[in-house]
Amino acid sequence: MSDESRTEPRTAAVVPAAGRGVRLGPGTPKALRVLGGTPMLVHAVRAMARARAVSLVVVVAPPDDAAGVQNLLDEYPLPAADAAEVVVVPGGETRQQSVSHGLAALPADIEVVLVHDAARPLVPIDTVDSVVAAVRAGAPAVVPALPVPDTVKEVAAPDRPGDPEPVIGTPDRARLRAVQTPQGFDRKTLVEAHERVSCEGEGATDDAGMVERLGQPVVVVPGHEEAFKVTRPLDLVLAEAVLARRRAKDGF
Ligand code: C5P
Repeated sequence: MSDESRTEPRTAAVVPAAGRGVRLGPGTPKALRVLGGTPMLVHAVRAMARARAVSLVVVVAPPDDAAGVQNLLDEYPLPAADAAEVVVVPGGETRQQSVSHGLAALPADIEVVLVHDAARPLVPIDTVDSVVAAVRAGAPAVVPALPVPDTVKEVAAPDRPGDPEPVIGTPDRARLRAVQTPQGFDRKTLVEAHERVSCEGEGATDDAGMVERLGQPVVVVPGHEEAFKVTRPLDLVLAEAVLARRRAKDGF
């Protein structure tokens, strides 16, 4: 360990991977789907461990399959150069409960926490590094995000189920950002958000939203198109294409 890294705050990544991924269709839980011959979760863990700052990765597994996830990770050990410690904990009913379980497993000396969806397996290292750098520079909460290419409409519930939804607003697209992960936090801020903010309702779809509800500042750094979330079947095709391009480019 270099002198420099000894003085830097210790950073851990919590990787929620307990979702069933129903939007991808029936079959294996999403995080265990294979991309380019390697399970999505393994890609996500490697993406975190590759960042020099990250010394610990906490994987949050489906509550009924923590042992299976541990076995899977044992089958795909990290390259020696990325030797972060990896631990597995069981998740919860919702994403935020899963993240809370991951936070509870952090050792006392961790000061910076990344939360990274297993469903974003291809996030580039530069994106991870820039999130960590912004937290270390003093931001309590940092999200990578991209401008929104589509115009976005706000809708209300229709009078009768199945009727077309009435549009109630068109936010200025120039001010909108689509947020990705890893989101980075000062540990104390994130833990306080999870303790004090309800895990449901507005602002609870991501961890930064919970910090916003605490009244703490959240800042955005540039995200990356390869940090997209694998949600629908077409995303699997895109992920395979990104991996093929990486292999062709640099033998990744
Ligand atoms: O459902 P969504 O796409 O928002 O899930 C984002 C991430 O949260 C995924 O990596 C998923 O595995 C995880 N998750 C979880 N526990 C849940 C639900 C989702 O860890 N109960």
